[in-house]
Amino acid sequence: MTFTIAIDGPAAAGKGTLSRRIAEVYGFHHLDTGLTYRATAKALVDGGLPLDDETLAEGVARNVELAGLDRSVLSAHAIGEAASKIAVMPLVRQALVEAQRAFSVREPGTVLDGRDIGTVVCPNAPVKLYVTASAEVRAHRRFDEIVGNGVPADFLEILADITKRDERDMGRADSPLRPAADAHLLDTSEMSIEAAFQAAKSIIDAALNK
Ligand code: C5P
Repeated sequence: MTFTIAIDGPAAAGKGTLSRRIAEVYGFHHLDTGLTYRATAKALVDGGLPLDDETLAEGVARNVELAGLDRSVLSAHAIGEAASKIAVMPLVRQALVEAQRAFSVREPGTVLDGRDIGTVVCPNAPVKLYVTASAEVRAHRRFDEIVGNGVPADFLEILADITKRDERDMGRADSPLRPAADAHLLDTSEMSIEAAFQAAKSIIDAALNK
């Protein structure tokens, strides 16, 4: 039987880094489900298509290839914004959730990260983590990352973007971002990546040894 680890949390909370590390250490397959929403949004934008036509967006979502998802191509800020707009559409979510569920049963195990993994995509996952940090800490991390790449950035603008994205992700009617009732909360505001990984590891090891 496969072993699924569901990791949810708001933008820039560190769940991507944590998920990749967990997948590597346990030898599990990893899917960053945000990339599926980003790929759908990018295909629409590239095709000069509107972002508010649900049937059209569903068709595009059904054609997203999980194997072809490339973070470096999809990481642009504008794509994230467009993704969170089409992510409110139930038909788009249905199409992407089907593909994500099919991925989640790969052997020997999987790590899926996103917003609704523990609540909707894999409600029976034996390990659910909800990774969060204050909006200010997340904005600082994003700011340091951008400036570290030699690109000028405006901290207050980044903070405003993060707050807006949180509101959209937590406020939507279909699959809003929230911790599953049985999720372990990991607040990384004052935690290093290493400390967050160690905390996650003890939770995962306990579940694996059950
Ligand atoms: O995590 P990332 O920033 O790549 O996600 C982009 C957007 O895709 C999110 O802001 C959210 O609106 C949407 N998303 C979602 N459900 C997921 C993953 C991402 O609605 N499981």
